[in-house]
Amino acid sequence: MQTDDTTGHVLDTLNRPLRDLRISVTDRCNFRCVYCMPKSVFGHGYRFLDRKELLDFEEITRIAKVAIDLGVKKIRLTGGEPLARRELEKLIEMLAKLDVDLTLTTNASLLPKKAQALKDAGLTRITVSLDSLDNATFQAMNDVEFPVEKVLEGIEAARNVGLPVKVNTVVKRGVNETHLVDLARYFRDTGDTLRFIEYMDVGATNGWRMDDVVSAGEIVGLLNAEFPCEPVEAAYRGEVARRWQYKDGKGEFGVIASVTQPFCGDCTRTRLSAEGKLYTCLFAVRGHDLRALVRSGAGDDELRDKLALIWRDRKDRYSEIRSDATTDSPKVEMSYIGG
Ligand code: GTP
Ligand code: 5AD
Ligand code: SF4
Ligand code: SF4
Repeated sequence: MQTDDTTGHVLDTLNRPLRDLRISVTDRCNFRCVYCMPKSVFGHGYRFLDRKELLDFEEITRIAKVAIDLGVKKIRLTGGEPLARRELEKLIEMLAKLDVDLTLTTNASLLPKKAQALKDAGLTRITVSLDSLDNATFQAMNDVEFPVEKVLEGIEAARNVGLPVKVNTVVKRGVNETHLVDLARYFRDTGDTLRFIEYMDVGATNGWRMDDVVSAGEIVGLLNAEFPCEPVEAAYRGEVARRWQYKDGKGEFGVIASVTQPFCGDCTRTRLSAEGKLYTCLFAVRGHDLRALVRSGAGDDELRDKLALIWRDRKDRYSEIRSDATTDSPKVEMSYIGG
């Protein structure tokens, strides 16, 4: 098996190690963000997973341990909305015993209630999705009339219990690109890390068009005009966000340019869906059924070998080969596969 010389960890066909495991704990969410779960598709009649189809916490922890054996250093819990999964703190407690950076991506709607329990359970840090500080714009994007003040309360709750916060803003042309400077101004003062994300053609339901993408170059231009900034070196191989620091010393922001500057060459991420399918790319069409293997009574060695084989065969680099043909190809939804 092809391995990394220094660690003995498994490498894929493009020599990329496995470092990052993203675990979706539910495919449900209480928001209907237009770029992720548009109401026209995720309204009435959409078939979400049944409870019995979900991996339980023991099953998730077993898979996580095996992935750590193979090189994983960071685990991110996602969804859907992960805080909607009952007793998530118990899973966090189990994963926090492992030697890993443990974080979570949330829309923050339940954070005021849950921040303390998450911190106590051992969560290392947290990422909140927030697309605008303007209430009308934010509500148009979440499409369930969720008010922006409640998200800001959630962020504050996380900060107050000592969880470092990152804020992720998906930028969609004609919707929120005129609000980026306000977000930057606000989070320069709080000290939370703000990252802008190019709108992606993930899933098959958001009606993505290249014209809706505001490029990283344009985003930096908008920010630089108000707050002069300069690029910062990446902190580690595979860092997704390109970082920019404000020249006045008031911190930095990031831009995730997966459309205009793809980062597949350094992609060390794999994703586990809530029902236990492993995907080696955000844009994969097919997942590998680990739940069947776990429930068939396979031991840890067998599970580890299976995961290593899947990773060793990996060739994915979707964002680098994106074209009109790939954009229209069938893909799983981000709410299912995990953001
Ligand atoms: P940190 O460790 O907190 O810096 O997280 P991260 O850099 O892994 O990024 P995060 O999980 O916050 O991801 C932010 C967004 O970047 C996601 O919601 C996606 O929109 C995009 N993204 C993350 N990983 C990938 C990836 O593997 N491929 C592509 N195309 N986009 C990704
Ligand atoms: N493009 C980019 N990011 C997306 N997300 C969901 N849908 C998209 C998309 N179409 C990401 C955002 C959000 C997280 C939950 O999922 O980062 O914050
Ligand atoms: Fe829910 Fe996040 Fe998707 Fe919005 S982006 S619908 S909050 S999972
Ligand atoms: Fe990784 Fe696929 Fe994203 Fe490329 S498109 S960075 S291979 S998940």
